[in-house]
Amino acid sequence: MDTRAESRTSTRRLARAAVLGVLPALAGCAGGAPSALDPAGTGAGRVADLWWVLFWISMAVFAEVMLVLAWALVFRRRRDARVRHGQPLRFVTIAGAGIPLVVLVTVYALGLRDLAALGDGPGPRATTIEVTGHKWWWEVRVAGVAGATANELHIPVGEKVRIRLRTADVLHSFWVPQLMPKTDLIAGEVRETWLRAERAGTYRGQCAEYCGTQHAHMALLVVAEARSDFDAWRARLGAPAAQPQTDAQRRGQQTFAQGTCAGCHAIRGTEAAGRVGPDLSDVGSRWSIGAGAVPNDGGHLGGWIANSQTVKPGNYMPPQPVAAERLPDLIAYLQSLK
Ligand code: CUA
Repeated sequence: MDTRAESRTSTRRLARAAVLGVLPALAGCAGGAPSALDPAGTGAGRVADLWWVLFWISMAVFAEVMLVLAWALVFRRRRDARVRHGQPLRFVTIAGAGIPLVVLVTVYALGLRDLAALGDGPGPRATTIEVTGHKWWWEVRVAGVAGATANELHIPVGEKVRIRLRTADVLHSFWVPQLMPKTDLIAGEVRETWLRAERAGTYRGQCAEYCGTQHAHMALLVVAEARSDFDAWRARLGAPAAQPQTDAQRRGQQTFAQGTCAGCHAIRGTEAAGRVGPDLSDVGSRWSIGAGAVPNDGGHLGGWIANSQTVKPGNYMPPQPVAAERLPDLIAYLQSLK
């Protein structure tokens, strides 16, 4: 094989590898994962529009560079009068300085416009949700309401909701790709962002700043719903937790209160008032256990209580000495808290 044929083959291989590498990535975007390119809110919509502008500008610049490269390769040996004296300087001025200047100034102006739009938060009467980052879960409260929940927050559709962010320990970052870009949680500071969902649905959020071993298992769910449903959720946050209805649930409640659980966790309306771990008053209705670590069902709940270190190594909950015969009751009780 001569050198040219060899080079053609390796170019083809390279192009094939590039296409095969890119396709699954594009498929991933379309497959229901929380993509910033599938915006459902005003803030993320701005970012997605800017992203596409940058994408098409990059494509245009890439095409232009490739064309110029091709032109240079085709005409490289014709060092005749085609390029007259004086032309190179004009070419460099226009293509090397003029066009990039126009492109960069345009992108800068668009960026400033979107930055201003993202900074335009909700008014003083807007609903405020207080989110505190912990290693490795999110504490969620509604301003003016006593109760707390974890790793799940509700917002009314079509309204700007203020999100007030604090961290209890290290740096975290609050990110709901389909609704709003990231906001860092910085120790000693109160940061603010806002969310506005244009359509009802659930949107997954994720801590976007490395914060230790279980950074990846620090997810949250934003539920955008009708105003009346949001009001009901807020009312539940302020009310005592559900009372046990069956004997098993009552035995489970006793196990919870008398064991080590209540030292770290709170359940509204009971004596359990621990503040170390998440408030469990509505744990039965949550979308996951361990901030996205495992699904919320009886099996995973039991496994988590017995030894959460096998599920989410490094988290602050030690293995619990709950007798095997008491575990089903405890699970039944916790699952009834909705
Ligand atoms: Cu919290 Cu990463």
